[in-house]
Amino acid sequence: MTPAERLSAIRIARVNHAGEYGAIRIYGAQIAICRHIWPALGAKLAVLKAHEVEHCDLFYTALRERGGRPCRAMYLWSMGGWLLGAASTLLGPNLIWACTEAVEDTVHHHLTDQLDFLKDRDRALHDLIDSIRAEEEGHLDLARAEKTRDTWASRGFQALVRHSVNLVIWLSTWGESSRMRRDLGAAA
Ligand SMILES: [Fe+2]
Ligand SMILES: [Fe+2]
Repeated sequence: MTPAERLSAIRIARVNHAGEYGAIRIYGAQIAICRHIWPALGAKLAVLKAHEVEHCDLFYTALRERGGRPCRAMYLWSMGGWLLGAASTLLGPNLIWACTEAVEDTVHHHLTDQLDFLKDRDRALHDLIDSIRAEEEGHLDLARAEKTRDTWASRGFQALVRHSVNLVIWLSTWGESSRMRRDLGAAA
């Protein structure tokens, strides 16, 4: 890998670690509030949260192995994740699953871009992302199965979630996420 490519691999591991931390905070807030208002949902969300904790640890190790440090905007992921989790829960179970669907769907697109970039550059990170992406797909499927309906409120909320996740990913990678997509578009 060239030095620039090595830096990109570090940025990928870093943003994924931060994203997993954000996901932990989303599910953490949802579980905490669900305990009081939607107790039946807690167990399902706890399984998802346990996966995200595992993913977060794996990306942390991958980041450190490549000589990188965690994202400086961690507080943004933490606060944003918690607010998103809390808002979706207060809006009801349909919005909880709409939130999960929008987050996992957006993340899925980024992971796919990353896999394309890494496949001939950093095989170990590629394979790690590939295995984690399979589990994230399971989260997406569950959210789609549990969401009962599409309403103007759920669609609006999802658009907001997608934009926020894309923005925070873009900020955390110094624009790397859109550069990567552009490069892939040019290579196609
Ligand atoms: Fe995850
Ligand atoms: Fe997930």
